[in-house]
Amino acid sequence: MNFELKPLSLVDVATEKCDALLVLVSQDFKPLKDDISQLTAQAQKAADFEAVPGKILQIYRPAQVNAVRMVLVGVGDGSERHVRTGVQAAVSAVKGAWLKKLVIAFASSAREASVRAAVLAVADATYSYTLTKTKKEERTVQKVLLTCTNASEVQTTFDKTAATVAGIELAKEWANRPANFTTPTMLAEAALELAKLPKISCEVLEPEDVAKLGMGAFMAVAQGSDQPLRFIVLRYAGAAKSRAPVVLVGKGITFDSGGISIKPAPEMDEMKFDMSGAASVLGVFRALANIKPALNVVGLIPACENLINGKAVKPGDVVTSMSGQTIEILNTDAEGRLVLCDALTYAERFKPAAVVDIATLTGACVIALGAVRSGLFTSKSDLANALIEAGETSQDLCWRMPLDEEYAEGLKTNFADVANVAGRAAGSVTAAKFLQRFTEKYPWAHLDIAGTAWKGGTAKGATGRPVGLLVEFLLGQAAAK
Ligand code: BES
Ligand code: MN
Ligand code: ZN
Repeated sequence: MNFELKPLSLVDVATEKCDALLVLVSQDFKPLKDDISQLTAQAQKAADFEAVPGKILQIYRPAQVNAVRMVLVGVGDGSERHVRTGVQAAVSAVKGAWLKKLVIAFASSAREASVRAAVLAVADATYSYTLTKTKKEERTVQKVLLTCTNASEVQTTFDKTAATVAGIELAKEWANRPANFTTPTMLAEAALELAKLPKISCEVLEPEDVAKLGMGAFMAVAQGSDQPLRFIVLRYAGAAKSRAPVVLVGKGITFDSGGISIKPAPEMDEMKFDMSGAASVLGVFRALANIKPALNVVGLIPACENLINGKAVKPGDVVTSMSGQTIEILNTDAEGRLVLCDALTYAERFKPAAVVDIATLTGACVIALGAVRSGLFTSKSDLANALIEAGETSQDLCWRMPLDEEYAEGLKTNFADVANVAGRAAGSVTAAKFLQRFTEKYPWAHLDIAGTAWKGGTAKGATGRPVGLLVEFLLGQAAAK
């Protein structure tokens, strides 16, 4: 999908040839003399249209307008939330095989946040998963032209958002694919594919390499599956070698059955999404290749299945992590922290400026924050602020959670240095406390995306979060020094 931004008034918009024209009308809309304004004013007067968010009025081949279909779209106060609602409603109303060129016109000037919301919403509403369907309803929209009167003021945000969409969609695509189409090997191939893009390189470690490194915790999870593990190392080199990189670590459990501590059957299929953290890392690299910011980024993905063959790790087994710490695996379903802890130790070799891990880590985080905000854990307030701010700007929100030492109490055991689970209370915090033990050598933050990475129910599918947040955070880091 191709995005373009043009500075057009409604007079010019009327001359744009397209399959559908969405005119975003806010409550404070003041009609001018042009045809579209006049039509809108008439429709409002006749109570056929109101500028409330999500309200739409479709008009076929309106006279004096070059669009085949015009849709008046209510966007309330013009805020990002109302623009999102409006664009979602309008796109689902006009979606059809004929829809190739779409124009989205802000009736007058537009705010940066509203432009971002419009681009994100149109991408989301036209995304289509097709890989494993025989009746493929591919996205038909090829070109989206966004117009407003103050285009130069919002150009940077527009370009950044359009570039990020490619990353969001790559993340969605890989997360959506069933586990038999997203094995650790296939994920590694996706990463190697990214390495064809400018400034990106990739190295894939196999079971023997991981064994040599002593990643006993990662190996313990992988040993229950016949699919061999992969440890993916991606690099984006946008600045001098001397510049310390930001390291992103993505949980890459391509299917989480729970292992011997097996999960209940209902909704277990959704555990194909347990590699959404890994998918978000791939997505970030896709966006970096588009934006080419001046910084260095390393992406680490420990990828394996959490399954139950005869060699599977058992509750009570003690393993030695790459850090040397021994871990008693009391619950094999707390596998994410086991693969992540070794990746976090591996991250030390890059002498990172910061490490951010991204993981569908705990059901408890879904209970705490639902699908609105990802959980953010870090003891560094500057890192917290940067990530929170990036979340607000990118409209990919997170919320800071605590890391008090008292929360680590339950991870104590008589049989190893640490246990992989504590009690039920504050489950997302105790998981983060476990990870924190492996991050002493650098500033670290953890994003628990268990509630935000995918939607369940009839709209089941990956969201591509938190690619937007991470890209915005990285661009902030590039600008900082
Ligand atoms: N991948 C799950 C977390 C998860 C569960 C994400 C539901 C999204 C929805 C993770 O590996 C897991 O199973 N965590 C356990 C931890 C528990 C055993 C301490 C959980 O949350 O139940
Ligand atoms: Mn699990
Ligand atoms: Zn998991």
